[in-house]
Amino acid sequence: MEKKVILTSERLLFSEWQEGDQEIANELWGDLDVTRLIDARGQLSSEQVRQRLRQELNCLQQHGVQYWPIYLLTTGEHVGCCGLRPYDLDRGIYELGVHIKKKFWGQGLAFEGCSAVIEYAFSKLNVNSLFAGHNPNNNASKKLLEKLGFRFTHKELYPPTGLEHPSYLLKNEN
Ligand SMILES: CC(C)(COP(=O)(O)OP(=O)(O)OC[C@H]1O[C@@H](n2cnc3c(N)ncnc32)[C@H](O)[C@@H]1OP(=O)(O)O)[C@@H](O)C(=O)NCCC(=O)NCCS
Repeated sequence: MEKKVILTSERLLFSEWQEGDQEIANELWGDLDVTRLIDARGQLSSEQVRQRLRQELNCLQQHGVQYWPIYLLTTGEHVGCCGLRPYDLDRGIYELGVHIKKKFWGQGLAFEGCSAVIEYAFSKLNVNSLFAGHNPNNNASKKLLEKLGFRFTHKELYPPTGLEHPSYLLKNEN
């Protein structure tokens, strides 16, 4: 079946998670290298991955956005997810997130995907600001957010890791 296309960037196609995506969800969130710095539970079981997938399906249903699954335009290979979830709806703030499978790290795909989502959030969805945070030990994420233009605002407890995460905002200047 043809994938629904939410947006594209130079190398990536953004689609929507489906009920039947457990296998690609497992390859992403079932990998400790991906979840180590974003989830203190360690290696997620397939039941925990199923719940993570359910969270994305619910987010789309309730808010029209999710951490959309992303695929290489050339081969159709699943790369990870990148997208939005509500953070403070009263103030029009959404959270930006990106999870890339390890084999695709270091190719600029997170930067490319996040740049496309920022453009979509600000021009199409008229979001006021984007929030993002990172594990204090996640240098890649810190570098990525700074490169995307996010400004540090404060530290905030992130329940999934139990740590105070440096937190950032990017304002819509459109
Ligand atoms: C963090 C993550 C998204 C980075 O993805 P990526 O596709 O490898 O990142 P990019 O290639 O777009 O790199 C973006 C910037 O971060 C830098 N970077 C990437 N990995 C790095 C690392 N391990 N240490 C320091 N900087 C790093 C890159 O050099 C690049 O900056 P530059 O262009 O100035 O060199 C990826 O490692 C990942 O998914 N990790 C697991 C989940 C996670 O931690 N997500 C982030 C929190 S939501």
